[in-house]
Amino acid sequence: MTEHPIVVTGAASGIGAALATLLRRRGVQVIGLDRTATDDTIPCDLSDPHSLQAAIDKLPAQLGGLANVAGLPGTASPEAILRVNVLGPKLMTEGLLPRLTASSAVVNVASVAAHRNTQPPESVEQLISATTPEDIQAWLGDHPVDGPAAYDTSKRVLVDWTTRLAARLIGTDRRAISVSPGPVETPILGDFASSMGKESMERSVATVGRHGRPDEVAAVIGFALSTEASWLNGIDLLVEGGLMAARAAARATTFNPSTGREPGPHEGIPS
Ligand code: NAI
Repeated sequence: MTEHPIVVTGAASGIGAALATLLRRRGVQVIGLDRTATDDTIPCDLSDPHSLQAAIDKLPAQLGGLANVAGLPGTASPEAILRVNVLGPKLMTEGLLPRLTASSAVVNVASVAAHRNTQPPESVEQLISATTPEDIQAWLGDHPVDGPAAYDTSKRVLVDWTTRLAARLIGTDRRAISVSPGPVETPILGDFASSMGKESMERSVATVGRHGRPDEVAAVIGFALSTEASWLNGIDLLVEGGLMAARAAARATTFNPSTGREPGPHEGIPS
């Protein structure tokens, strides 16, 4: 593992906290950023570019990696969701890229919810290009979505933007990967039950047996950040116990060749 500190956003809770614990156990210095101040984190509100820049200014000149874990669920306002889940990771990454040392990686935590996005590619593209809160506001003016839809789209944008970043980083000895969990037992899960429906969560448990644990997702992020993952770049790692595989298998078995009927594109995809 790296001798330089790794920055973890969302380190005060859930998956980010589990990642910070895992990395520290491996002897890595972790710098946690979160809007919730704890003994271990630097306060930073990712929805506010000034707060984000102030946090960046406090960070060291050399970093061994960046994990953009913080996120807001579909119960928040669409603007807050897009600012925290899309603009925050983008600005944080662009601000820290020059400090990322050789063999390091950026890992963005997206979600299987990216597969529920219903925005067309050109609209996703506009958000990939967004660099200011005003861009987000303008996009929402043209695409009035509710919180759950904003969440799904935010994660689609994050996955697709990570791919672009990975392509940009080829030849620089740095990598970018997204990690997409299914439902995980963290405080955000209650919000998902409100925004996506309890039934959606229950369907997921019925399909794969249980929700994931934060340490199970942290382990994959930790690997993606490590030098052992040196040839892993530009892909989305699903960490969901086989949820998407079960869905694909169900689609194959329920396909009716005489009617062409398949389950709808979003049937059975929770968080
Ligand atoms: P969590 O609610 O336990 O942690 C999220 C953290 O992000 C919190 O510490 C919170 O303070 C921080 N945060 C929120 N807004 C912020 C802001 N404006 N500035 C700075 N920090 C902010 O939730 P969890 O589960 O650990 O979520 C981590 C990531 O995993 C999120 O991006 C979430 O969308 C994603 N995810 C979680 C799933 C789950 O079922 N728990 C499933 C799929 C994806």
